Amino acid sequence: MQPNILAFFSKYIEKELGIVYSEFNHFQLQNRLEEITKILGLNGPQELFELAQKPLPPTVKQLILDIATNNETSFFRDPRLFKGVESLLLPMLADKGKAGAPCRIWSAACSTGQEPYSLAMLLDQYEEKHKQKIHAQITATDISARVLERARAGRYTQLEAQRGLPMPLLLKYMQKDAESFWTIAPALKSRITFEARNLLQPFDAMGKFDIIFCRNVLIYQSVPSKIQIIKRLSEALRPDGYLVLGAGESLIGLSEAFENRKTEEAIVYQLKPAAAKAAA
Ligand SMILES: C[S@@+](CC[C@H](N)C(=O)[O-])C[C@H]1O[C@@H](n2cnc3c(N)ncnc32)[C@H](O)[C@@H]1O
Repeated sequence: MQPNILAFFSKYIEKELGIVYSEFNHFQLQNRLEEITKILGLNGPQELFELAQKPLPPTVKQLILDIATNNETSFFRDPRLFKGVESLLLPMLADKGKAGAPCRIWSAACSTGQEPYSLAMLLDQYEEKHKQKIHAQITATDISARVLERARAGRYTQLEAQRGLPMPLLLKYMQKDAESFWTIAPALKSRITFEARNLLQPFDAMGKFDIIFCRNVLIYQSVPSKIQIIKRLSEALRPDGYLVLGAGESLIGLSEAFENRKTEEAIVYQLKPAAAKAAA
């Protein structure tokens, strides 16, 4: 593939999604562009390149964004982190719930839904164990229409369902259908609202959250985009809110607005009072 085509689409994807395809990853970009041209029935990436010289039809643009993203996920991905959330954050949510305030959790790049469904299971398990209802609503967002459709359906292959999900939870929260797919129980689904959202665009209208999960999405962004997104996430948190990142991610060099809170299992990030005041 011609280098100018790769350079054009890597710039296009960085502008639209923030995702950086370095030259080192151009072979991956090339595969993805070839996949897109096949789906669109074009003769090759040159034709896609010519098409992209004018504003792209929304369906083509969405297809490029869908295919350019890495949607890798699984239930309870990084189990130690979920243990940390259970021991540190759920008691905090339960206390807030007692005070009558409904709590809000945001899964900010939810992919095919395993992350928000794992959170809903964690909440349900906690409520059952402590015989106490946590009044929490989960909002789950992603830029990709393709993964959101799958997340809303909450329907997984045997392999996907078993990845990370212990058998007792699988049997409790999912039902197997005639085609051997597993579907999330309606009661669990009702705790989650799914919507399309690009983290590069303003999200003030979503209101404030007690906890934001933003895991394994910033790793693909340039440093300036990471800094911008984290700043806006800090502004979307309630004064004592928490940010949860992926296991291999940290805020070092990206933000001073948070304090590390360590549990035996994981680190989560709590908004500093001064940052909360500035965002108010
Ligand atoms: C690797 S998955 C992570 C899923 C889940 N958070 C986890 O840790 O398992 C990254 C997700 O980020 C989404 N994504 C990438 N760029 C985005 C952007 N600019 N705005 C919103 N979502 C984005 C992708 O569509 C993809 O589903």
